[in-house]
Amino acid sequence: MSTRASVLSDWLAQRLDRASDQPIYRQLHRLLQQAILTRELAAGAKVPSSRLLAAELGVGRNTVTQVYEQLAIEGYVSSATGRGTFVADSAPDEILFDDAPPAAVAPPDMQSTLSARGARLITGAGVSKRQGGAFMPGVPDVSRFPSRVWNRLHAKYWRRPLPDLLTYAPGGGHSGLRHALADYLRTSRSVRCTPEQIVVTTGIHQSIDLAARLLADSGDTIWTEDPCYWGVRSVLQVSGLDLKAIPVDAEGIAPTPADLAAPPRLMLVTPSHQYPLGMVMSLARRRMLLEFARQHRCWIVEDDYDSEFRYGSRPLASLQGMDTGGQVIYVGSFGKTLFPGLRIGYVVVPEALAESFATASAELYREGQLLQQAVLAEFIEQGHFTSHIRRMRVLYGQRRDVMLATIAARYGDTLAIAGGDAGLHLVLKLPHGIDDRAVAAAALAENIVVRPLSGYYAHRPDAEPGLLIGYACVPDEEIAAAFETLAGVIDGFLQGRD
Ligand SMILES: Cc1ncc(COP(=O)(O)O)c(C=O)c1O
Repeated sequence: MSTRASVLSDWLAQRLDRASDQPIYRQLHRLLQQAILTRELAAGAKVPSSRLLAAELGVGRNTVTQVYEQLAIEGYVSSATGRGTFVADSAPDEILFDDAPPAAVAPPDMQSTLSARGARLITGAGVSKRQGGAFMPGVPDVSRFPSRVWNRLHAKYWRRPLPDLLTYAPGGGHSGLRHALADYLRTSRSVRCTPEQIVVTTGIHQSIDLAARLLADSGDTIWTEDPCYWGVRSVLQVSGLDLKAIPVDAEGIAPTPADLAAPPRLMLVTPSHQYPLGMVMSLARRRMLLEFARQHRCWIVEDDYDSEFRYGSRPLASLQGMDTGGQVIYVGSFGKTLFPGLRIGYVVVPEALAESFATASAELYREGQLLQQAVLAEFIEQGHFTSHIRRMRVLYGQRRDVMLATIAARYGDTLAIAGGDAGLHLVLKLPHGIDDRAVAAAALAENIVVRPLSGYYAHRPDAEPGLLIGYACVPDEEIAAAFETLAGVIDGFLQGRD
């Protein structure tokens, strides 16, 4: 196209839609961009003066001037004082365009676009679209969170926020929170630590990611319990670690002599409340693991995700508290004690590793949320945290009792229950041969969320069928009706076997 004012203005005039909602300025800008990108307006060509083009198009001169200025900022045209405005030699987005009309490109096949580990992560993903309601396992009753107290503390910090609380977190997190946590963990969980040994994270997922990255190299062997929580399995797998699933027995993780002959770099255990089956690791097994780890210099990551909620007996002491060799990395979270969306957790590491963990956390994740951490520190120091736990322990204990009574009324002792002594869920075992995934899918169709126990096993042939039933987030009075719906689904599968 010639850049003679009349030719260009005819071309533009045909395309400007004066009835459109889009302002003339925006239309003109887009049309000139398009003309330059498709080389309708050749590189180096002089464009008409704003006065001339405005007159030809019958638009305000200011409009054209503004469009030219915008095109100049974007690099489509350049102005030479006294000589006029010229199309730039190469337009900014030119690389996206070709002389030939674009060939039809098939939409990418996402599975083959992902990396091998990305595809494995997505194919094996366990995360649920629903995160509450009957009977979502692992979720506390968030409606009971003392939001008024939290809001008061929050408002206090926001009234005159200290600049230090609004910037990136120094490695390790908020110092007040680390002190408050050290006191809490010492007294409530028998964890032996100083504040400096604590690194605040966004939760157990991140703590384990950090530990895996700092303590193991890709290809190293990691032991996980079988069954175990799918989330941490995914975190470890995606780091390129070689996961070996070690079956659990009534005393916890139970490595065979052959397993013990090939020590891992790191093992991940849930000693206070095996996830998801609920047993407590025996003293003998704890001693054996600690001694094994000391001898072979391997790391034990202790996931202490919900041991505050033990009904009928006091919470059990941590494995970390028994460790004299500095082999245990202890991870915990406020996800169950306060609310999951808070995304604050912590990792307690041996003194010699503290500085490295703090630096790596700041280096990798560029941590922040210091104001939130300051609020939490004060929430703990003022005693609100322990009172909330005490109240929730009573509430979840009642719900657990209602749940057990409801199951017993429906099934007597024909279906076994595991893990009812602690935590936020229990496991209802199903007879062998029942497809627990199909049961969970059918329950979801009835708006009931349960998780199939077999999904937590790495060795599928060993997998027992069963359902993880979370009761903590279901009001007492809704438990029986929701379970009735679930039982209707279960019965359909039980009858199908007869
Ligand atoms: C055993 C276990 N560890 C860790 C987590 C997740 O912890 P966080 O939310 O702090 O990442 C869960 C969540 O359900 C869990 O069951």
